[in-house]
Amino acid sequence: MANQNINTTNESLVNYPSHVALVMDGNGRWAQARGLPRVEGHHRGAERLRDIVKSCPELGIPFLTVFAFSTENWKRGKDEVIGLTNLFRKYMGSESRELIEKGVKINFIGDREAFDQSLVEQMNQLEMATKNNDVLELTIAVNYGGKSEIVNMAKSIARKAIEGTIEPDHLDEMILDSYFSTSHLPDPDLIIRTSGETRLSNFFLWQAAYSELAFDKTLWPDFTVDHFKSHLIQYGIKERRFGAIT
Ligand code: IPE
Ligand code: IPE
Ligand code: MG
Repeated sequence: MANQNINTTNESLVNYPSHVALVMDGNGRWAQARGLPRVEGHHRGAERLRDIVKSCPELGIPFLTVFAFSTENWKRGKDEVIGLTNLFRKYMGSESRELIEKGVKINFIGDREAFDQSLVEQMNQLEMATKNNDVLELTIAVNYGGKSEIVNMAKSIARKAIEGTIEPDHLDEMILDSYFSTSHLPDPDLIIRTSGETRLSNFFLWQAAYSELAFDKTLWPDFTVDHFKSHLIQYGIKERRFGAIT
């Protein structure tokens, strides 16, 4: 029923996405175009994320994942990294009450241990405080890299093979999948990247095997719930074949 809200154009939707992932790109360019510091773009971007998160329950989307900081983003200047971590800190503080009240379950993926201990504790606490929520599962990828996740999976399996607790010939896709931080989630149905770039930039390399990919020229700080809805509508009229003939 809730999904009817997506269908604002009376097109007949074949599919509803259950898991939508967002590569929120273009904050820096948005700020630079206005002569503002890049961190101002990240700030505006965080507000857009708040709007999208709020819209998901109404749109009937149970799983939303957002790419907030990649394993490669450390290459940016120290000022930008500090600005971004301060922003995470601020938003986790200011949004936590509403997220808890609205039934949003927060889950962080990626290597959080690279951040300050106080930030790690804030992430752990937010996960704990929201762990029984079930309206929307919001996964936030920070210091996340698809290749790094595959390396970690290979290390764990190699260790088990040496211990003799895993038989290499018994490995299959389901077992490998269980080693990923997203194993409790369905694979993303739809991945939307803003800012006009048409690449994954090391996001969900394993999980994106059959995701629909949508690239939007809008810079993330300008991305509204209406843009989001239009991608859901476009997804809805696509036929996903998974290699079969229909
Ligand atoms: C995305 O915006 C946010 C992060 C990668 C943290 P960018 O900061 O990459 O913005 P552009 O791509 O430089 O415009
Ligand atoms: C991807 O954006 C990472 C995030 C949105 C967090 P980047 O801006 O880091 O990607 P590239 O460098 O343009 O590929
Ligand atoms: Mg970028």
